[in-house]
Amino acid sequence: MKVLVILYKGGKAAQEEPRLLGTVENKLGLESWLKGLGHELIDSKEGPDSDFQKHIVDAEVLITTPFHPGYLTRDLVEKAKNLKLCITAGVGSDHIDLNAAVDHRVQVLEVSGSNVVSVAEHVVMSILLLVRNFTPAHEMVERGDWQVSDIARNAYDLEGKVVGTIGAGRIGYRVLQRLKPFDCKELLYYDYSPLPPAAAETVGARKIDDLKDFVSKCDVVTVNCPLHEGTRGLVNAELLKHFKKGAWLVNTARGAICDKDAVAAAIKSGHLNGYAGDVWNVQPAPKDHIWRTMKNPLGAGNGMVPHYSGTTLDAQARYASGVRSILENYFSNKPQDPQNVIVGIGKYETKAYGQR
Ligand code: NAI
Repeated sequence: MKVLVILYKGGKAAQEEPRLLGTVENKLGLESWLKGLGHELIDSKEGPDSDFQKHIVDAEVLITTPFHPGYLTRDLVEKAKNLKLCITAGVGSDHIDLNAAVDHRVQVLEVSGSNVVSVAEHVVMSILLLVRNFTPAHEMVERGDWQVSDIARNAYDLEGKVVGTIGAGRIGYRVLQRLKPFDCKELLYYDYSPLPPAAAETVGARKIDDLKDFVSKCDVVTVNCPLHEGTRGLVNAELLKHFKKGAWLVNTARGAICDKDAVAAAIKSGHLNGYAGDVWNVQPAPKDHIWRTMKNPLGAGNGMVPHYSGTTLDAQARYASGVRSILENYFSNKPQDPQNVIVGIGKYETKAYGQR
């Protein structure tokens, strides 16, 4: 069986650090195991004339990661006559055309839960670094300067603020859990799937049904829902008008959920005090992507990093082993863990990628 793995080149780091499993060099730790079972493992990079285009035609299994994704478009799904299973090494399968997968009876599985704590920690860190104006303070000391007032004029406590999450699934809920001890004024969430009452009570989170109403109440908004037809461009110029002036926005879900130019304009005008996250509308982000350098009127408010919150070494160990379990089940015709199945044969098996 042909198993096609689309990973990114980890270079020197991946040669020196074998725990960088999600790289071409280390192949999720699957190479010798798969070859030992007699399967063909092809690793390939993306691009118009790449091996991806060549090998997808007869691959039966495709493994990708969201961090440096191989984009499986409808066109490629149609060319992939032998494709039966796509596995996302991590969480978030929007780089696969899921509707095309449904139409062509290709299953799509993720390693659900594998990196949700990793992302939730990053969200809390990002909220804190924006609210406390951390990045320009660090840059100041590196420059050799010392002007406390320049930083303190835009530094706040998280205590007493209203924080809300768009999406209260695995990550969103873990963010709320981690924020509870910060004594925020209120924790809110917006999601069409309500939290179980006991879970909502444990974190003290209130559900708001209208998105404009929700953002207008929040000092900090964090985005933790998948990218799908219902969330692409959800945070756009119109919605941003309803944010509190000076609010902070953290998005570690998917870049395209927020409108690139509308966010950059809101930061530039100071309507948003800061934006942080690790996900971009195109990955790798072009060198001149406005989110790399956008700043608020005080020259701060940017907490952007490359897509890595869900790929800590701890997370890589979990999603690599999860990919192996999915493959083991597939090879031996055993049922998959239902929580991993995004698209089953001919239909969505999750409610998280939009209401259908
Ligand atoms: P999950 O499936 O546990 O939860 C997603 C939640 O979003 C569900 O409760 C769902 O009802 C809700 N949702 C969907 N559409 C919505 C909408 N229109 N409005 C409000 N809520 C909506 O997923 P999990 O594990 O929490 O992951 C969420 C997303 O985070 C992933 O799909 C992925 O895009 C992103 N992610 C990012 C990572 C990173 O490294 N930056 C790593 C892992 C996930």
